[in-house]
Amino acid sequence: MNVLIIGLGYAGTRFSQAFSNLDPAVTGNEPVEIAYVNRSPKSNGYRYFSDIETAVKEFEPAVVVVSVNDEYHIDVIKQLRGYRGFVICEKPLVHPQDDLDEVEASLKHTSGFALDLVERYSDASITLKQYVKDHNLRLVRANFYWGKDRINDHRPTSGVISEIIHPLDLVQWVSGGDAELELKDLQGIRSDFSISGTAVLDSAAITANLAGAVVTGYSSFVNILRKREVDLVFASPANKLIFATMIFDTPVWDIDYLRIWEKTNIGERVIVDLKTEIDESRPELNTIRKLIRLVGDAAGFAASGAEPSQPFADLPSSLKLQKLLNTIDADARTIGPVQYVVGSEREFFNDETNWERLG
Ligand SMILES: NC(=O)c1ccc[n+]([C@@H]2O[C@H](COP(=O)([O-])OP(=O)(O)OC[C@H]3O[C@@H](n4cnc5c(N)ncnc54)[C@H](O)[C@@H]3O)[C@@H](O)[C@H]2O)c1
Repeated sequence: MNVLIIGLGYAGTRFSQAFSNLDPAVTGNEPVEIAYVNRSPKSNGYRYFSDIETAVKEFEPAVVVVSVNDEYHIDVIKQLRGYRGFVICEKPLVHPQDDLDEVEASLKHTSGFALDLVERYSDASITLKQYVKDHNLRLVRANFYWGKDRINDHRPTSGVISEIIHPLDLVQWVSGGDAELELKDLQGIRSDFSISGTAVLDSAAITANLAGAVVTGYSSFVNILRKREVDLVFASPANKLIFATMIFDTPVWDIDYLRIWEKTNIGERVIVDLKTEIDESRPELNTIRKLIRLVGDAAGFAASGAEPSQPFADLPSSLKLQKLLNTIDADARTIGPVQYVVGSEREFFNDETNWERLG
């Protein structure tokens, strides 16, 4: 199976590792061949193309991964116009200023599409989603806190919309139903945290409605410690409150936690208490354990039409999410800009061993 990765930086490299570690059965034992398009070639043994058109024509990829920086997604997507294979696109789908009709038209002929919303592939979110469905729970209230430190990171970014997309998706994803999140109050903070500008939206706090439930949350790219938590309260058909909390990538990447419980007269009745297990004997899978599930689903679907383990974050749902992000970007009442460049120039730390640059 031929896989073309467009943009072989941090995210693209993780995709190459995920595809290289796929169970061969997924592709019907067809070996995975990887090629890439990048600003410049790398010495990694993969076939390099300097332009997308030639790569698609000559390499005939069954799967294309779009993992260039946010602001270039649209250019790449436009160049995929007419492509008939499967596209995996890094989040966010595009930059807030980009034309969504053009995105839709360009990807119209693809055989399938998945946005990389990798937390959908966590056992924590999968288990909660299933529990909510099986027990016909109705969301009453949700709150999230989702942040990491990207201060003085050397990669361009569209800002906090690239981070808040995860909890916005998760709340809707686990609570099921077709209702759309309606954003209400939006507040933000701007800063020069990123090389992408002097007043980029680095954090956002939202209030929203979702099918009668109230959703609140805060997300940030200047949170000095990584923190990824979603708390939810549901009502059961027997009119009991059911509580759930999900914590992701804590204390290390790939370790996620889910607890579901109800209150009783003698304390709490714990319904689910789950901490994801990782196979320590395979360090090559560190940080890509969830990604490999998404990649496996995409490869299986592209190879033989196999049903994915989860429905993909397809183009319609990705466009809906992008509209929410665009609203946050455009309408948040903001304070700042905060100045993180406190000296005469920005200070960069190129610590290749720092896993915090992920995500
Ligand atoms: N899902 C996640 O958790 C997650 C994690 C990290 C990054 N991302 C996303 O992945 C994307 C890439 O981020 P990154 O951290 O890998 O950045 P990066 O800067 O490390 O890599 C981007 C790569 O794309 C290449 N590139 C840029 N424009 C190009 C173009 N027009 N044609 C060909 N190559 C081009 C660059 O040379 C670079 O190698 C972003 O959209 C980011 O939001 C997602």
